[in-house]
Amino acid sequence: MNRLSAQSPVLDVHLTPDHAERALREDARAGLTASPKELPPKYFYDARGSELFERITALPEYYPTRTERALLEESVAAIAEASGADTIVELGSGSSAKTRLLLDAFRPTLRRYVPQDVSEAALRGALDALAAEYPDLELHGVVGDFTKDLGFLPERGTRLIAFLGGTIGNLRPAERAAFLAHVRSVLRPGEQLLLGTGLVIDEPTLVAAYDDAEGVTAEFNRNVLHVLNRALGADFDPDAFAHVALWDAENSWIEMRLRAERAMRVRVAELDLEVDFAEGEELRTEISAKFEPETVRAMLTDAGFDLVRWWADEDRRFALSLATAV
Ligand code: SAH
Ligand code: AVI
Repeated sequence: MNRLSAQSPVLDVHLTPDHAERALREDARAGLTASPKELPPKYFYDARGSELFERITALPEYYPTRTERALLEESVAAIAEASGADTIVELGSGSSAKTRLLLDAFRPTLRRYVPQDVSEAALRGALDALAAEYPDLELHGVVGDFTKDLGFLPERGTRLIAFLGGTIGNLRPAERAAFLAHVRSVLRPGEQLLLGTGLVIDEPTLVAAYDDAEGVTAEFNRNVLHVLNRALGADFDPDAFAHVALWDAENSWIEMRLRAERAMRVRVAELDLEVDFAEGEELRTEISAKFEPETVRAMLTDAGFDLVRWWADEDRRFALSLATAV
């Protein structure tokens, strides 16, 4: 108890439930009245959505997590040596499962770990486990939206920002550029970014990773409808929507959609909104962009980073980039 209370993690809620609900209302109204209909992927991640994502990471078809883990195992010692950071900030940290490799490698210099996520449930779970495993580490969780506010970043120390999992691929190209520029703007020259990116590979492997045989990804996709039902009093019948995962070669991204299997009218009570779906109409729920190595370098350079080192697996499915703010 003493040990735990001495090391109790701090949790800052930058995104209060009120703000989160206001953002959801605005995004849901805009997205459900747009043509085609769409919803931002950050709304997958309530407690159930975060749990479903964790199940996805263990699926045989979902290669990104284990590939990135293997790359981290291979690279962390070099990253720690090149970096010397005493503060690791992680955006979209989720369960922080792979991050433990970084925390272990940085242990001699590391003073604090700052995980940030939109999912309070995921963050609380991660912080509780980390507090027990790393009693000497200062833990400072932040509930927030990484596309909106990076003002929470600690000012002191030398910082490494980790953005893993390929989550950057869930941002649209303009959002991605703005996000990287924002990350660069909060770093001092010499501080670093560790970025995980999915690479373009063959279509069947990509599609299978987003349409697994067990149907976990389908349930994750439908979870956004459960979120709208609970948070906005909507009456979506999630079972009336089929999971769709397709490869858009032109845009170089996987797109997930929910296809209405029958014509229906959905009422969103809190928005005083009725939304009609035609049979077969698709609601767009997520993109997951995959990159060419030169595209990763270009987007880092455009944002004001120098690519220092790059690791990819032998099948070139996933890459880790270590970049320095110039
Ligand atoms: N980094 C972890 C988790 C990836 S899942 C990994 O590599 O396994 C994506 C994570 O980003 C989820 O935990 C989700 O809650 C979070 N997330 C998604 N959109 C976000 C946003 N706009 N701001 C902050 N966190 C976000
Ligand atoms: C979090 N993000 C990187 C995952 C991805 O692969 O785009 C989310 C996900 N969507 C379906 N499966 C996993």
